[in-house]
Amino acid sequence: MQVAREAGDFAHRAQVSELQITTKTNEMDIVTQIDSRNEQTIRDTVLARYPDHVFLGEELGASDGQAGGSMIAHAPAPRVAQPATVRWIIDPIDGTVNFAHGLPIWCVSVGVEVNGAMECGVIYNPNLNELFSVRHGHGAYLNGQRISVSKKSNPQQSLFVTGFPYNVDENPGSVIEQFVSFLSRGLLVRRLGSAALDLAYVACGRFEAFWEMGLSPWDTSAGQLLVREAGGRVTHYDGSDYNIYKKSIIASNGLHHEMIFGVLSETLTIQK
Ligand code: IPD
Ligand code: CA
Ligand code: CA
Repeated sequence: MQVAREAGDFAHRAQVSELQITTKTNEMDIVTQIDSRNEQTIRDTVLARYPDHVFLGEELGASDGQAGGSMIAHAPAPRVAQPATVRWIIDPIDGTVNFAHGLPIWCVSVGVEVNGAMECGVIYNPNLNELFSVRHGHGAYLNGQRISVSKKSNPQQSLFVTGFPYNVDENPGSVIEQFVSFLSRGLLVRRLGSAALDLAYVACGRFEAFWEMGLSPWDTSAGQLLVREAGGRVTHYDGSDYNIYKKSIIASNGLHHEMIFGVLSETLTIQK
């Protein structure tokens, strides 16, 4: 928890100084010097205490050259006891576009996977001093207080959130038609620009559901566990059980899942 808090507070202070912005896949997909520095700091802090742990991060990649996850989960059981593979999955700033524009909707997200299964995670938003934490089997928390998903079942009285990939102009998976489908039903849909916060806000009941395609493990590792431990449901667009190494996600309080699944299914391309 402490590493995420320190990284978030550092980025929060650094936001007032000059940011060096460089582009990644296209002009909208940006990164600042704070993103990479934060990830390095988190890795260094963890390694000082746990030298055999490994990392998967948005800016620095996989420290052991592996994508992690299901590959490990399906490996044959070793004959002799092996040390656990502990993988820290890091998004040093989720919501970099917001961060670069001074919009206070971004966070640090860190999830920890043990032998291919998500064990715990933290999402820290320094702008609101909100720290979401979760451990498998032990519940989800906001600043130490237990949280749970909302109980609202009426779609017209609910608030939803989604996100778009950086290549939204290419309309991958008919993402534009899907969005229009929700709006044309009169549903209230937001787009905050931080998938990790979107998930944390489903977990604490601010939103009833979130969906997005084209995400990466660092966007969702901590958040999807928060939603599950807060009593919600997390799947892919085809309804299968969620795996952080696959691209699409529907996370809900459980009461809107079928409706969202149905609306998404109506559009042309289903991307798992
Ligand atoms: C992005 C945010 C955004 C989502 C994008 C992500 P980044 O992460 O989570 O909400 O719509 O798909 O890539 O680039 O700010 O770390
Ligand atoms: Ca991200
Ligand atoms: Ca990021």
